[in-house]
Amino acid sequence: MRHGAPHGDVSGSNPQRIDAGYEQSLTGRDRFADPLLGGGVGKVAGNAVETGLGSAHGKTILLGEHSVVYGAPAIVLPLLDLQATASIRRARRGYITSDLYTGPLGAAPAHMQPVLTSLRASAEQLDVRADRVELTLRSTIPFERGLGSSAATSAAVVRAVANLAGVRLSATQTHALVQQAEQVAHGTSSGLDAHAVQSMTPLRFQQGKPTTVKVADKFTFVIADTGTSGSTAAAVDGVSMLRDIQSRVVDRVVEDLANLTDDVVYSLGIGDPIRVGQSMHEAHSLLAYLGVSSPALDAVVAAALEAGAYGAKLTGSGLGGCVLAVVPDQEQAGDVAAAMTAVGATRTWTTSLTPNNFELMTAPTARVGKEDR
Ligand code: MEV
Repeated sequence: MRHGAPHGDVSGSNPQRIDAGYEQSLTGRDRFADPLLGGGVGKVAGNAVETGLGSAHGKTILLGEHSVVYGAPAIVLPLLDLQATASIRRARRGYITSDLYTGPLGAAPAHMQPVLTSLRASAEQLDVRADRVELTLRSTIPFERGLGSSAATSAAVVRAVANLAGVRLSATQTHALVQQAEQVAHGTSSGLDAHAVQSMTPLRFQQGKPTTVKVADKFTFVIADTGTSGSTAAAVDGVSMLRDIQSRVVDRVVEDLANLTDDVVYSLGIGDPIRVGQSMHEAHSLLAYLGVSSPALDAVVAAALEAGAYGAKLTGSGLGGCVLAVVPDQEQAGDVAAAMTAVGATRTWTTSLTPNNFELMTAPTARVGKEDR
């Protein structure tokens, strides 16, 4: 059981406690005069270390993906036990080791650009030579599945660089650096993911502002990976193009998603999972209308409902990736996960939301199918 803290009080969920070795001193160097980075908030220096460590967690969007880009609210749940970690040490030449690419930093392929952006941006702020480090990345967050892999990896890199430099960043400073990488990864980014991977509690997020969501009862969710990738940039571009052609209709959909999101905030606050499920169901149809669902996502959503979920929808940017379902209880979670697996889901997780705390059981709820990373 994890106990949540209000957003902003906790700068991360790093089990390694990367700040544990710091001798905190308020006489730190003035490296944060840039207003983008929070104007010196949390300017705390510590001892530089030989190997800098950082980590951040995944997230799942309960409601409001895509509409959040147009100013509507969204609700996001942190997935504390899905983690991206980074370790970094000074070296003669730049080198990166990761599941997605291993080799010289200078020869990294395009899909590593967001990571390189977070490395360069944070290194520049923290007086570290970005071309003279060895960076090792590990992650249990599936890549391109809408669970926050890119933002969590960037946050882990930023924290590792700060740890190496002996500087403790505030949540605001980390967010600003991660957001630079998110803009590279997604083109247009609302900032939701960059906040979610740092938050210990569920958040309602709108126009750059996160607030903690009140939860009155236990809610159980199943997440299922369709085993297909979805590019956030392509999905966000697709919605933007649709809006260019049908602005009135798309704006109406955004408004409907905004109303559903606030209805879910209310339903969480009164402990009504059936009502949450109904809103999720409607949201999936609206997202499908925006063109970001896929046959694989629709099949997994239908299987979840058939097996007794109160509601299910795609989560994240769509075009592939994951489905999130709200279910009556833990027992039903197993049945729903099995039904989702039967129609092609490659792995599932169960998460539960309880009053004032949030828990993710890492044990898969169903057999893992084909390996897809
Ligand atoms: C991606 O996780 C969420 C989107 O709404 C994009 C964004 O908020 O930047 C699709």
